[in-house]
Amino acid sequence: MDVLDNTLKTPEDIKETFGYKVLGALPHLDRLSEDVREDAFRALKNSVRYAMSSKNVRSLAVISPGRQDGRTTVAFRLAEELARSGSKVLYINADLRKPVPVKTIQEVGMKGLTDYLSGDASLEDILEPPGLREFYSIPSGIVPPDALTLLDSQCFMRLVSQVAGQFDGVILDTPALEEAPDGMVVSGKTDGALLVIRSGRVKSRQAESMKSALEEARIPVLGVVLNDTDGRMVHKASDSRGLYGKR
Ligand SMILES: Nc1ncnc2c1ncn2[C@@H]1O[C@H](COP(=O)(O)OP(=O)(O)OP(=O)(O)O)[C@@H](O)[C@H]1O
Ligand SMILES: [Mg+2]
Repeated sequence: MDVLDNTLKTPEDIKETFGYKVLGALPHLDRLSEDVREDAFRALKNSVRYAMSSKNVRSLAVISPGRQDGRTTVAFRLAEELARSGSKVLYINADLRKPVPVKTIQEVGMKGLTDYLSGDASLEDILEPPGLREFYSIPSGIVPPDALTLLDSQCFMRLVSQVAGQFDGVILDTPALEEAPDGMVVSGKTDGALLVIRSGRVKSRQAESMKSALEEARIPVLGVVLNDTDGRMVHKASDSRGLYGKR
């Protein structure tokens, strides 16, 4: 083992550094069959849904420190699994910093969150109907010059509380915190945040300063998803109930 490697890898590392509950661990997904992947996401959904209902959380921002940590994977698949189990769910792409292909906007005339927050579209205009049961979504829209201002607004706050009253669960995707503070701002407008930590990417010092920032901003962190773990390590480190919880 590399003695200089002090990155967070196991649920124990997360608990020690953050003190947050580890709600689930996702294995490396690449070579797994879709069935096995679904099992992993379903187990994650069960544990997140339990935490959401016991803490009365309807709107949940999915945040993480780095690019490519797996926020979109976690947010989208979590929303999908919640819908599959019968909940009425809304996935909002509040990562306004990723360009949507121009072709999509021109050909479909698609409007998104940025249009709504700029006053150019209504909720009806941007709410995409369910492809699966009651799984609705709101796309991000075109990249605005002032993403943070749009998100740090009364208009966005009102939208989040409005949809939280209409859906069983609202899951919000955000950009990496190293890219922009949007994730903190979005979390401040939701009932809680789900923190994604990709195994082997975050040094314990970084994690500690992140924890201070979250505490200072009084972000209620529902728990952590440890992403892309080495399965054997998780098995060894998990408690008797297993990290994936009961089905
Ligand atoms: N557990 C995993 N196993 C294998 N690949 C993964 C896993 N989680 C995420 N990935 C892959 O890593 C890449 C980044 O994932 P994703 O887009 O979900 O992250 P993100 O944090 O939303 O990234 P971005 O910073 O670009 O928004 C994708 O190619 C995704 O398929
Ligand atoms: Mg993403």
